[in-house]
Amino acid sequence: MGSALPIGEPAPRDGSLPVAIDSPSQFGVYLHVPFCRVRCGYCDFNTYTAGELRGARQDEYADTLLREVDLARGVLADRGPIRPASTVFFGGGTPTLLPPGDLGRMLEGVRASFGIEPGAEVTVEANPDTVTDATAAELAASGVTRLSIGMQSAVPHVLAALDRTHEPANVRTAVEAARAAGLDVSLDLIYGAPGESLQDWRISLASACALEPDHVSAYALIVEDGTKLARQIRRGEVVAPDDDLQADMYELADDLLGSAGYDWYEVSNWARGDEHRSRHNIAYWAGADWWGFGPGAHSHIGGIRFWNVKHPAAYAQRLAGGESPAAARERPDAAARALENVMLRTRLRDGLPISELLGEGRHAVASLIADGLIDGSAAVHGRIVLTRQGRLLADAVVRALTD
Ligand SMILES: C[S@@+](CC[C@H](N)C(=O)[O-])C[C@H]1O[C@@H](n2cnc3c(N)ncnc32)[C@H](O)[C@@H]1O
Ligand code: SF4
Repeated sequence: MGSALPIGEPAPRDGSLPVAIDSPSQFGVYLHVPFCRVRCGYCDFNTYTAGELRGARQDEYADTLLREVDLARGVLADRGPIRPASTVFFGGGTPTLLPPGDLGRMLEGVRASFGIEPGAEVTVEANPDTVTDATAAELAASGVTRLSIGMQSAVPHVLAALDRTHEPANVRTAVEAARAAGLDVSLDLIYGAPGESLQDWRISLASACALEPDHVSAYALIVEDGTKLARQIRRGEVVAPDDDLQADMYELADDLLGSAGYDWYEVSNWARGDEHRSRHNIAYWAGADWWGFGPGAHSHIGGIRFWNVKHPAAYAQRLAGGESPAAARERPDAAARALENVMLRTRLRDGLPISELLGEGRHAVASLIADGLIDGSAAVHGRIVLTRQGRLLADAVVRALTD
């Protein structure tokens, strides 16, 4: 059921926003689908198995979410001109647990309410077991352009350690189905699972590259509080990920993906050419506006952040009563925005303009260059660009720049 929501001021029940929206910023749409067949032991996303739904219905979900789309249109139209979506992202959970027709209807609702820019990127996250030729073709026909498949690993004992139940052979099936339907393909990998060796990770990377995806995300396994994995580690049943091994795994990913033709562009993301980078995620990292629909989804509009009630039953109940599902909101002050800007931009290949740092941060740049964590040419080109070592220590770099 995932981690707790942040604290903020209560959001008004009509969902109204206290700002005029006149910014030319891109508008992204995130649609959360909070269902999974089983919960993976490491995952704390806001997602629910059938037994945890407390009466919320998967077969009514598309209609429920479309009520929030209607409400959002009203709220935004009240504040400024409606902007068409430049990116749409169905995330989860497992969006492909819903029939493709439901995803198509939600997309149609977004199109009818806001418009979708020509050439927009429309991504659907998928578990490999849930993609067939027919699903992929139907998704493509409804306007989806990109499938992001949760491969995680190609090694059976690593998948077992992650509690993944998908059939490894289905990754190839899903990739081929997506390709045949003309969709861009991204693969998610995780490294550092209990018992995973550097050689196991090499096998997973090689298998991923052999499938020739357009994009790869490789995430260091994070032990999230409250997960089964955290309990297993606490009880001594499995060992926690080793930082040094994860660092070696990151370097191996960067080497193998680089030599297979994937360009690194964000700490955990590589793409085969700029046109295959995730435009939706880049917009998040650049601080653009987006509306997140669905239980627990977060939004960022005109400098206001707000987030929805977490449980699908509470979400459906609010919307059935004609009320906004927003739970709370906040308006980050200038200092919080500056910190966020540093945290997000230093993760990107394009880096952070040094001119955006305050005095202390500028002093920190010199010592980070001396330590080899940021590229020495940064000072010349006026941007902070992390070296590979800096990427491994991105959090430490951010701390140095913002303390
Ligand atoms: C919503 S899931 C992707 C789609 C689908 N639910 C699946 O898992 O196949 C998003 C991705 O987040 C990553 N992820 C989730 N929990 C993680 C954790 N604790 N540490 C690292 N990566 C994690 C996984 O790679 C996963 O594919
Ligand atoms: S399938 Fe994806 S969203 Fe669902 S529990 Fe596993 S990692 Fe989390």
